[in-house]
Amino acid sequence: MSIYYVLIIIFLVISLSIRLNFRKANLSWEIQMRFTTEEIEKETERLLENMQHRGWDRTDCEIIAPLTLEINKLKKEKNAVILAHSYQTPDIVFGVADYSGDSLGLSKIAAGVDADIIVFAGVVFMAETAKILSPEKTVIVPSVDAGCSLADGVTAEDVRELREKYPGVPIVLYVNSNADVKAEVDVCVTSANVEKIVSEMPEDRIIFLPDKNMANYLRKVTDKEIIDWDATCIVHDNIRPDSITEFRHVFGEDVIVLAHSECPPDVLDRVDMVGGTGDMINFIKEHPDKKKYMLATECGLADRLAIEFPDREFLGSCVMCPYMKQNNLRNILLALQDPKPEQIIDLPPEIIQEAKKSLEKMVA
Ligand code: 13P
Ligand code: SF4
Repeated sequence: MSIYYVLIIIFLVISLSIRLNFRKANLSWEIQMRFTTEEIEKETERLLENMQHRGWDRTDCEIIAPLTLEINKLKKEKNAVILAHSYQTPDIVFGVADYSGDSLGLSKIAAGVDADIIVFAGVVFMAETAKILSPEKTVIVPSVDAGCSLADGVTAEDVRELREKYPGVPIVLYVNSNADVKAEVDVCVTSANVEKIVSEMPEDRIIFLPDKNMANYLRKVTDKEIIDWDATCIVHDNIRPDSITEFRHVFGEDVIVLAHSECPPDVLDRVDMVGGTGDMINFIKEHPDKKKYMLATECGLADRLAIEFPDREFLGSCVMCPYMKQNNLRNILLALQDPKPEQIIDLPPEIIQEAKKSLEKMVA
């Protein structure tokens, strides 16, 4: 008799622990229980409407629907907004983001948006920019591993040494850099305004940091003498000129190639337009007659544009940014529910004050 009871108790303990472990592991299943079938169906339809243009089917959308519902519910409860860079995946851009765009557009939104919390689905330097422009808000990054090879390429100490070496020469900093570096320079720029800001500077000689490829591009399109720095974006620097030639050969000469200004000079020499991600979107909007595009940039942009411009064709060849792709619905949800201290951007007040000057000069 007693062995019979012992066996029943062992069975109950094992089945309960399997169930608990399953529930712990399967976040989506747990959240699913919080919504009615009708709510999940409605959300599935909303997601499908956009994402089917990029190969997502009903089952894919059904799986993520409880997560997007929960994230969107939490945003309202906490007065939070999600800003997503255009390189993020469609489930983030179309499922939960309140705004998506290039780094310039997102920093302007961060500065003006009415919210207590900003969750920045991008890379850490972008979230730092949001904090500098809106220090009173809580800015959260879903993944602390979302770095950037350009931001890693230059330090505040490097800038101080350059100042000593080239006294009086203005220092222009591409915004893809850390907050303490922004605090040391004269003006920041993004890919959307770099050409305009540098051409309009009164000085003939400038120091441009940290992107070597963008510095090369500036030598070509402005009449300035540029002192550069040796850092590149691991994504754009790997795009090869041969792939552009090959593309035109395979898909025809009517393919329009748009390239990010972080690409190497021999790539930029072969393309139809050079600019930032926002410039690429504007080009496509302004050319409804052009139907076939190759985007020499990070893959997320083609994903986003294929959904927003279903009448155009976006042919490969893009490269994935391992940093941008650190974000996903799961870590966005966890960051919103209960952010860990390291996920909350915290900058010293003096860095905020100094970095703000170089960012506000850019916006002005
Ligand atoms: P944009 O400034 O064009 O948004 O690009 C940011 C970026 O990280 C490019 O690699
Ligand atoms: Fe940095 Fe390049 Fe990734 Fe942009 S694509 S975040 S520049 S590593």
